[in-house]
Amino acid sequence: MTDRTDLSALPADFTWGVATSAYQIEGAVAEDGRSPSIWDTFCRVPGAVDGGDTGDMACDHYHRWREDIALMRELGVTAYRFSIAWPRVVPGGDGPVNATGLAFYDRLVDALLEAGITPFATLYHWDLPQALQDRGGWPVRGTAEHFASYASVAARALGDRVHDWATLNEPLCSAWIGHLEGRMAPGLTDLTAAVRASFHLHLGHGLATQAIRAAAPGVRVGIVNNLSPCTPASDSDADRAAALRADGHTNRWWLDPVHGRGYPEDMVRLYGVELPERPGDLETIAAPLDWLGLNYYFRNVVADDPSGPPPYARQIRRPEPRRTAMDWEVDASGLEELLMRLTEDYAARRIHVTENGSAYRDLPGPDGAVDDPERIHYLEEHLAACARAADRGAPLAGYFAWSLLDNFEWAYGYDKRFGLAYVDYATQRRTLKASGRRYAAIVRDGRAARATPAQASRTA
Ligand code: IFM
Repeated sequence: MTDRTDLSALPADFTWGVATSAYQIEGAVAEDGRSPSIWDTFCRVPGAVDGGDTGDMACDHYHRWREDIALMRELGVTAYRFSIAWPRVVPGGDGPVNATGLAFYDRLVDALLEAGITPFATLYHWDLPQALQDRGGWPVRGTAEHFASYASVAARALGDRVHDWATLNEPLCSAWIGHLEGRMAPGLTDLTAAVRASFHLHLGHGLATQAIRAAAPGVRVGIVNNLSPCTPASDSDADRAAALRADGHTNRWWLDPVHGRGYPEDMVRLYGVELPERPGDLETIAAPLDWLGLNYYFRNVVADDPSGPPPYARQIRRPEPRRTAMDWEVDASGLEELLMRLTEDYAARRIHVTENGSAYRDLPGPDGAVDDPERIHYLEEHLAACARAADRGAPLAGYFAWSLLDNFEWAYGYDKRFGLAYVDYATQRRTLKASGRRYAAIVRDGRAARATPAQASRTA
């Protein structure tokens, strides 16, 4: 199957979604009892975020959520993946619950269901309450325990209506980019802190999984990882060894522990940091999951880099592939490869592509329309990769385009636009891009092709 419009191998009950995250779209950072998160703090560090941008206003989704649900209806999607802001719900990180903050998600969930859109909630998408960072953040064990308490609060409040929960989004970014590379919040460059953070993120995931199941029996729980195939830049032994290390750093460190394999030995040796593990922790971390979330953006092509930071592998910029405005290679085959790896090497029971998308320099035309052929191409070829994997037996259940809206792209600020809808930040006006209309058509065709004749006539 090479045709990028042939999606016939996707299952009949395929979930067609869009994704966002709280800090990237909500704004209203000081409203209704929300406390600052590590991103509010990081945004205030001079030079940390391009253009000095902050999430203070973002897409003002906290006030415009009804409009955003209307946009989802226009897209025809069947599911919406959003994240709950811990600092809105438990502003101190632990302790009292902020009923007003929780009520926002309550209303959102009700309105989604009323619109026929299935909510998928993520509990942690990088917005740790600053109060917990001040007490040590993810490098300390208490944060994992507080995360589980917050998860329990959220699941008790919403678990009767939200049936799919993700504990963490992209723990790699929180641990490696936030604590080792220092490019993003909380902005540390400390290997020991990074390794400890990775362990406590996993522990938090395991404890939260138990807490969610206790609070809302019968819901489905997953974890969302951003993974990249790691390919050696050359056939040399040094580059092949570098690719193996990069794979350990990017993929195995995040997959093995949650699959009961513990931490990869080669990487434990490479980091040389003692894990803060207590008896029983590895079992907690390996709680069986209902689904795996895969965020896919690019392939890593790496060369040996003995003088660089761990894992001593430098990303190579190949001239051939197309690239997005993030300077990321466009390579849909990497998505198929990862879906098959989760299926074959990790025996995944159910997989959602929880994020996939591209940033381009979108410019509205004189009539306000945004023509974005490169994003359409990207979307089609990545969906085709999903269909190929499904055809080969991957238990692929859904695809969530990143993102519903242009939004705050972390340290890159608002300059990098990933949305299917363009956001004019001065007016907060949303306009579906051509890619949004293309996705709507794909979703419509996909739903109609798989519907019973009676349902098909209703969606036509
Ligand atoms: O915007 C991010 C998102 O928060 C996590 N996954 C990658 C996206 C694009 O960088």
